[in-house]
Amino acid sequence: MQTFAFLIHPLSIDDVAKKYKIAKRVSPKVVGQVLRRRPPFVISEIEGIVSATGAKAKGWFVVVPLLPWQFHQLEEDYVLEKIAKACKVARKEGAKIVGLGAFTAMVGNGGERLADLVDIPITTGNTYTTTTAIQGALKAADIMNITTSKSTLAVVGASGSIGRACAQLLAPKFKNILLVGRNIEHLEEVDAILKPNTDGEIRLMTSVSEAVAQSDVILTVTGAVEAVIEPQDIKSGAVVCDVARPRDVSKLVSMVRDDVLVIDGGIIKPPGQVDFKIEFGPPPGMCEGCVGETIILALEGRYENYTLGKKITPAKVMEMSQLADKHGFKLAGLRRLEKLVTDKQIEDIKSSVKKRHLAV
Ligand SMILES: NC(=O)c1ccc[n+]([C@@H]2O[C@H](COP(=O)([O-])OP(=O)(O)OC[C@H]3O[C@@H](n4cnc5c(N)ncnc54)[C@H](OP(=O)(O)O)[C@@H]3O)[C@@H](O)[C@H]2O)c1
Repeated sequence: MQTFAFLIHPLSIDDVAKKYKIAKRVSPKVVGQVLRRRPPFVISEIEGIVSATGAKAKGWFVVVPLLPWQFHQLEEDYVLEKIAKACKVARKEGAKIVGLGAFTAMVGNGGERLADLVDIPITTGNTYTTTTAIQGALKAADIMNITTSKSTLAVVGASGSIGRACAQLLAPKFKNILLVGRNIEHLEEVDAILKPNTDGEIRLMTSVSEAVAQSDVILTVTGAVEAVIEPQDIKSGAVVCDVARPRDVSKLVSMVRDDVLVIDGGIIKPPGQVDFKIEFGPPPGMCEGCVGETIILALEGRYENYTLGKKITPAKVMEMSQLADKHGFKLAGLRRLEKLVTDKQIEDIKSSVKKRHLAV
């Protein structure tokens, strides 16, 4: 039996309240202080993974008790030490590789510093997340009849690990490409990598709302703690693939915009009858691309540091895509806020777009 562990952490006070109801009755500051003192712990054993090759794997979710804002505000060394402790818990449980979930993957230059502190292979899972985010964004664009070669793409968080790789692979398909982030120098580095393989016009932008307002397809994957895309920002008929956790797209969008298609990036269905035993976001039996990558590496017996740092190569994205096919991993359809987007909903979005165009 192959084994793995995956590190998770609460994304909000609501997440903490699922286990400790009192969290909603005290201030966020107090919740943060309590979590800070809590050591990492195993929250569930993951069973039922059976690859298309017949290989089997089991794993564990290990909680790093910190909220998103604490990953930014606390000393990096303190946070890394806590994540290293979680890796120790995973190893003791029997895991042979550890995947880093959400903000645990962003600390210490995308796992690079952590790799020096632990004696177990680690991966951020960002390679397979990139694969699935691209597949989802292109599928959604196709469904909304967007011809990419005539359209504008915005990658929000384009200088990050996932954003950079997504921009590299998607840019050649679009007419205009907007690379968006807070720091122009970071974006210039990405621009230099994209230019040789991109015929379209590339622009660098620091205003998320300005970039989003001009775009037909938006792939958003920032490390922001709060939403960065609001309802009024999005063009009618646009597709938004939201890969970030916590999400980049405000929840208000699904309430007030019936003329845009917003999908969760990277939700997949691993092979077998997988039971994760906890509610960690995706529907039962499904998981995010980063969890998928960790499982794939375990099924392959590839117990090595796989995705680390900020530079994911297209060759690696291709390799992960082939391994995912080999083991029977599938994109779990287009999903929004963990629910399947139905054909009827797509038709409704299209008809709202038409109505808005007629009204203008
Ligand atoms: N769905 C999944 O399966 C999955 C898997 C893995 C990770 N994730 C999520 O993906 C996100 C990014 O992960 P990553 O490893 O690629 O992180 P990363 O390497 O740290 O990149 C984050 C990017 O976001 C930009 N950024 C941060 N705050 C911003 C803001 N307020 N406005 C605009 N841009 C901002 C940063 O650029 P500047 O600093 O230059 O602004 C950087 O380009 C996280 O939310 C993570 O939890 C999702």
